[in-house]
Amino acid sequence: MRILSGIQPSGKPHLGNYFSMMKRMVEYQNENELFVFIASYHAMTTVQNQKELSDGIWNTVLDFLAIGIDPEKSVFWVQSDVPQVTELCWILSNFITVSQLELAHSYKDKIAQGIKPNGGLFFYPVLMAADILAFRTEKVPVGKDQKQHLEFTRDIAERFNRCYGEVFLLPEPDINEEVAIVPGIDGRKMSKSYKNAIYLFSDEKELRKQVMSIVTDSKGIDEPKDPDNSVLYHIYALFLNEEEKQILRDKFLTPGIGYGHIKQELYQKILDYFSDARKKRMELEKQKDYIIDILKEGAKKARSIAEEIMEEVRLKTGLKYDVR
Ligand code: ADP
Ligand code: TRP
Repeated sequence: MRILSGIQPSGKPHLGNYFSMMKRMVEYQNENELFVFIASYHAMTTVQNQKELSDGIWNTVLDFLAIGIDPEKSVFWVQSDVPQVTELCWILSNFITVSQLELAHSYKDKIAQGIKPNGGLFFYPVLMAADILAFRTEKVPVGKDQKQHLEFTRDIAERFNRCYGEVFLLPEPDINEEVAIVPGIDGRKMSKSYKNAIYLFSDEKELRKQVMSIVTDSKGIDEPKDPDNSVLYHIYALFLNEEEKQILRDKFLTPGIGYGHIKQELYQKILDYFSDARKKRMELEKQKDYIIDILKEGAKKARSIAEEIMEEVRLKTGLKYDVR
């Protein structure tokens, strides 16, 4: 099956990104055709600083390789290295209405916060549709916040196909309900933009600070605690199997253990869990040429696949006017 997903290089990846998308992509790569890209153009809707964007791209590439994306098995590239996608984006923009785009949560949320969204942010779902449709993607692993974007993608593909015949496949969203929305340390959705994230590769001091800041209620050591309404429990449970989750539940329910103690355990767990990836990341940092080659190779493969479908699009739409 062909599986594709992308991540914006607008900051460091966090546990929400990891458990809802990145980890699953790595698991999928052995038995599927996996396409992974860094959504550099999407990030430009918010990151408009040269160093911040190029560092963001580079760091996100390193993070993905460190957690196990294998360029021998997967196609891995940076979005802006494949111009066919922006070409397709323009074409697809004619198959969605302005009023539908006005309903996008990503856009409405910005308006609600009093932010004046730029044109890129408004257009964001069309570019995402192009990312997906240009590769005849079957399945898209994402967090729940992207569900509506997938619905737009399917709508756009259906309208295009109705006009010109079956060119695009309708992709299925792949959302793991268990980790659909990972909470941040303040209990809201974990997000780079809320400053409430726990990052995969923070240094020890920073990580400790993030974990120790997870909100809890004021239950003392000698009181039973409620795991179901606890942000700490939900974050910790991401790292556990069913049996371990039961043990953690018991710790919450049995008096005698304080939140501070559980946070200390979680801190250690995160360090252990990512320790191999952390070492690999340090190695990768020294191999810039190798990584540039991987990205060049990935972009080349991605371009050739996207070009194939673009040729069909140009032909079927009449843009390819040479009818001699
Ligand atoms: P952010 O919202 O932090 O800027 P991105 O928009 O780059 O993150 O998201 C990359 C992927 O991670 C998407 O599939 C998105 O749905 C998922 N994701 C982001 N935050 C969370 C979260 N708190 N819980 C679950 N998935 C998330
Ligand atoms: N919009 C996604 C996010 O914020 C990133 C993204 C861009 C994406 N294009 C995509 C995800 C295509 C999946 C498929 O997380």
